[in-house]
Amino acid sequence: MSTKVVVITGGGGVGKTTLSAALAVGAARRNLQTCVVTVDPAKRLADALGVETLGNHPTAVANQPGLWAAMLDVSASWEAMVHRHAAPEVAERLLADPFFRTLADRFPAAQSYAAGEQMAEHIESRRWDLLVVDTPPAGGGIDFYAAPGRMREFIGGRLLRWLTGASIPGRRAIYKVTARPALKLADTVLGGPLLEEVADFLMDLRSLHDGISHRAAAIELHLRRATPIVVTTAYPTPMREARRFFEDLPEKAGKSDTVVFNKQLPATWTDSAALRGAEIEAPIRTALRDNLTRWAAEVRRQHDIKQQFAARHELHMIEVPWAESAPTSVDALAGLLASAPELEEHLPA
Ligand SMILES: Nc1ncnc2c1ncn2[C@@H]1O[C@H](COP(=O)(O)OP(=O)(O)OP(=O)(O)O)[C@@H](O)[C@H]1O
Ligand SMILES: [Mg+2]
Repeated sequence: MSTKVVVITGGGGVGKTTLSAALAVGAARRNLQTCVVTVDPAKRLADALGVETLGNHPTAVANQPGLWAAMLDVSASWEAMVHRHAAPEVAERLLADPFFRTLADRFPAAQSYAAGEQMAEHIESRRWDLLVVDTPPAGGGIDFYAAPGRMREFIGGRLLRWLTGASIPGRRAIYKVTARPALKLADTVLGGPLLEEVADFLMDLRSLHDGISHRAAAIELHLRRATPIVVTTAYPTPMREARRFFEDLPEKAGKSDTVVFNKQLPATWTDSAALRGAEIEAPIRTALRDNLTRWAAEVRRQHDIKQQFAARHELHMIEVPWAESAPTSVDALAGLLASAPELEEHLPA
């Protein structure tokens, strides 16, 4: 079966994981075989999805037939990637190498790239009508899209080429001839055996080049075909991240002409008519009216900046209301989606 892919991106804390889960519940209730790949869900949401103790492998969500969930396990994905692209003995060496561990921990593109490989696996399993991918918050979701390219550049890039020789050496002998003198010289200048020590590691790393280049291209293709959904709230920091997505990304992502504003305050807060006629003592009425007036100003402020944002980027705007309690059960997630019918329309029929 061919899998429709929805990628949920946006800044930190805007509700990516919640809306990914809500869309997935909605899809499963339309009888679509659905998998949601989430990143670090809040504990109660993880409980509801049954992913609390799970990793990359999808498991059935207990109270929602047709829905499966996996939780992105970055370090397991990273190891799987190494095993996929390296010869067995090289994989073992790399995974035991402290430099390699550092790379996995410190190079953000490495983690996002591993997430991308995981996404590709799920798509290629051809098991799903719909795959909903919740992305890591790094770089407002842009990192997820940029990661395959960055990873390819890093592995095939100048630095590694300079250190390990011009062509990818099939045998260590080549590097002994080409790179060792350069490394020796560098070590003399830097006053330590550092580069010589990392040389073997770099050679091993470089042997991943072909596998990773090839895979990165496949991931990029999957990403171009996927539907991105950009989520934000009406506050400056997440909106800056969302803006980056529309301004910096374009050709790597599938086209998006929609922005989702999550946690939107009720429009009724602009209306103090509700207080009229209610039996409320005068001082309390005054206090309530003053509060409502302040909230009304905030709702109007948010309304204006949302309109400006949508107009500037020629976007259609979908608003998801703020829920009084965090939506963590399957039913609450379905309820959240039902309160934003336009978002539901993004699901395949
Ligand atoms: N519409 C909503 N109404 C009320 N609370 C919400 C809504 N959407 C999300 N939340 C709450 O906001 C918090 C952040 O949501 P969530 O974890 O989904 O965001 P995220 O974008 O995935 O965060 P991160 O960037 O840390 O991964 C959670 O406590 C969640 O329950
Ligand atoms: Mg999240």
